[in-house]
Amino acid sequence: MKTVPILNLKGGVAKTSTAVNLAAILAGDYKKRVLLVDADSQCNTTEFFGGDPAAGSLADVLRHEYDGGVYAASCIQASNFPGVDLLAGDDSLMDLDLTKAETGTAKAAVLRDMALLLAEEDRYDVCIVDCPPAFNAASAAALAASDEVIIPIKLDAFSLRGMTNLLRQLANARTINPALRLSGILPTMWYRSRRIQEAEETLRGSGLPVFPHIRRTDKVDEMTFDQEPLIVCNPRCAACVDYRRFIREWLNLGGGAAYV
Ligand SMILES: Nc1ncnc2c1ncn2[C@@H]1O[C@H](COP(=O)(O)OP(=O)(O)OP(=O)(O)O)[C@@H](O)[C@H]1O
Ligand SMILES: [Mg+2]
Repeated sequence: MKTVPILNLKGGVAKTSTAVNLAAILAGDYKKRVLLVDADSQCNTTEFFGGDPAAGSLADVLRHEYDGGVYAASCIQASNFPGVDLLAGDDSLMDLDLTKAETGTAKAAVLRDMALLLAEEDRYDVCIVDCPPAFNAASAAALAASDEVIIPIKLDAFSLRGMTNLLRQLANARTINPALRLSGILPTMWYRSRRIQEAEETLRGSGLPVFPHIRRTDKVDEMTFDQEPLIVCNPRCAACVDYRRFIREWLNLGGGAAYV
């Protein structure tokens, strides 16, 4: 099982949209067995897939006595999408800070140990983690468990200037998990404009691996009302076509070969 967080400390760059559509396409098109971990206290992913935090959440897991991931694995629930299981988020994730994660009962290694346990049992092919726009106990746990990260980015001047920050984030993440690799940067909410195209060229010229972009379409907002991933509610929309293309490329890379 490969564990892949969708990471960017910047808010609103399509982390959740990417996580839910990636999970649905991997399960729906490729019949992969997917575990989706909601590490964000906003719980968008949990709500989207009909998860119930009361059935056990990542916050419970981070507060639980350390047991090598056994309790974490027991908190996994089925989602409303065939082939996708969930480790739910809940709003108390916000209250867990890094200090507690390291020195209290919560442990940053708990997701890594859960991942090892699940890999041994061969229960899933991929574990995707929807990260919060913050570095907290949940993101630390996600990074400790990860093989590679996918970084969605919105092509605007703020985000491009934030590239240095982004790389610093990755370097910081490697202090937790030295094996961590960047599988690629995923430009999201793309639209045809000179500025956006120039920004994309700058990014592609940076030497970092960059996936094909995801076009902007209102259908992504609409998807959140329908609570159905794009392959169900709008398979022909530009963003769905692009998510499928990005995933094809990612899988062809063996889950990310152009590592940095
Ligand atoms: N390809 C797209 N086209 C148009 N709108 C999009 C696209 N992708 C995402 N959005 C919209 O952008 C907004 C932010 O997306 P999303 O919630 O996925 O970002 P996020 O990075 O998870 O945010 P947060 O940091 O708050 O967790 C949402 O309203 C979503 O519907
Ligand atoms: Mg989100």
